[in-house]
Amino acid sequence: TKGAAMVTAVASRVQAQRKQIDKVLALFRLTREQLVGIRDKMRVELEYGLKRDTHPLATVKMLPTYVCGMPDGTEKGKFLALDLGGTNFRVLLVKIRSGRRSVRMYNKIFTIPLEIMQGTGEELFDHIVQCIADFLDYMGLKGAQLPLGFTFSFPCRQASIDKGTLIEWTKGFKATDCEGEDVVDMLREAIKRRNEFDLDIVAVVNDTVGTMMTCGYEDRNCEVGLIAGTGSNMCYMEEMRNIELVEGDEGKMCINTEWGGFGDNGCLDDIRTQYDKEVDEGSLNPGKQRYEKMTSGMYLGEIVRQILIDLTKQGLLFRGRISERLRTRGIFETKFLSQIESDRLALLQVRKILQQLGLDSTCEDSIVVKEVCGAVSRRAAELYGAGLAAVVEKRREDQGFEHLKITVGVDGTLYKLHPHFSRILQETVKELAPRCDVTFMLSEDGSGKGAALITAVAKRLQQARRE
Ligand code: GLC
Repeated sequence: TKGAAMVTAVASRVQAQRKQIDKVLALFRLTREQLVGIRDKMRVELEYGLKRDTHPLATVKMLPTYVCGMPDGTEKGKFLALDLGGTNFRVLLVKIRSGRRSVRMYNKIFTIPLEIMQGTGEELFDHIVQCIADFLDYMGLKGAQLPLGFTFSFPCRQASIDKGTLIEWTKGFKATDCEGEDVVDMLREAIKRRNEFDLDIVAVVNDTVGTMMTCGYEDRNCEVGLIAGTGSNMCYMEEMRNIELVEGDEGKMCINTEWGGFGDNGCLDDIRTQYDKEVDEGSLNPGKQRYEKMTSGMYLGEIVRQILIDLTKQGLLFRGRISERLRTRGIFETKFLSQIESDRLALLQVRKILQQLGLDSTCEDSIVVKEVCGAVSRRAAELYGAGLAAVVEKRREDQGFEHLKITVGVDGTLYKLHPHFSRILQETVKELAPRCDVTFMLSEDGSGKGAALITAVAKRLQQARRE
């Protein structure tokens, strides 16, 4: 009959649509072999970055940080810390008491308006100093001359702990006249321009390094720092003898890998999708930070959005209508992805979130959106796991151990907020580095506390040298 024929037609259309959706989702699935391959490629890039001959062209930059040891518990005093480059800009006062290893912190969050992130360098640094002034005022510390640690979460070439030349901006920053300049000098000059207070800038620190330090304060086995947040990066303690860019063979030094640049030479092209390419092309730094763009909070939502646009164009979502909202960059923040993927959430609630985002969805739509988010975040966690497996395996081999026990200090909104990311990351590392026993330690405010600890250690060494 006519009715039965219609039912069959609808059923087969639904089936065909399902096939099309599955085809897209499959692009994000990585096989074990692929993950092993990625781990091994990461290993090659780590070695390239460390060697003098290959370093200049390395996409994983492997930057020496001049942080050579962990705090030993004798650090004490009051420090200021700045944290620039994550979700928020913050100024902190950190009080460290020796012996009991207790740290007290006071902080204030400031926003950096987009015009300033992408204005001139002078404006950016004047704004930072304005925020410091507000904070000092607020804390009743005007006129105090405190040592300062500057967590600056971008790739910097360092020749000592208190110097850092910005190589290039990443993530959402693009202020002019900063690349190639020493960020400590820029901060000092901005303080001078304001001519209101003086600060003793002791250290410039990457957020990964601060995170590792904070966890290292409590766990001696912590030799890796990981950020899974707005950006994606990792640092670890490397044997001095392997760091060809720095004189000396004794002991260890922390290397800021800047692994976000992994793949910039094309070595990940076989797994990059058209959606990854679209996200890259629409970003502030096309062609750069390709691994970061497949793994970090600033970009995962963008990948999701590109997929949703494509599925809509194919008539598989939102009744085939691409709304203004869906065309808007940055609508899917980490916080929304995390909510959408939460298992406790009924589909009705997923629809509500989509509605908040201005996307009118049917129940079927919300199922598909959730699947898309899951595929994108799972791939990100697996890619992180493959990268991390390369590092811990390297540490194990370099020390000639059959087995390695190692702790990884972690921070970042993606790791902390997402309901599945951390679990998948951990499972992947276990699978790809079976001879390493990796403990993950959440860092409590690594960027602030870590910067203060590094500043304390640097200050102590500075004084020892003077005596
Ligand atoms: C970007 C920066 C890197 C930072 C990471 C996490 O990858 O280049 O320095 O550690 O984001 O914030």
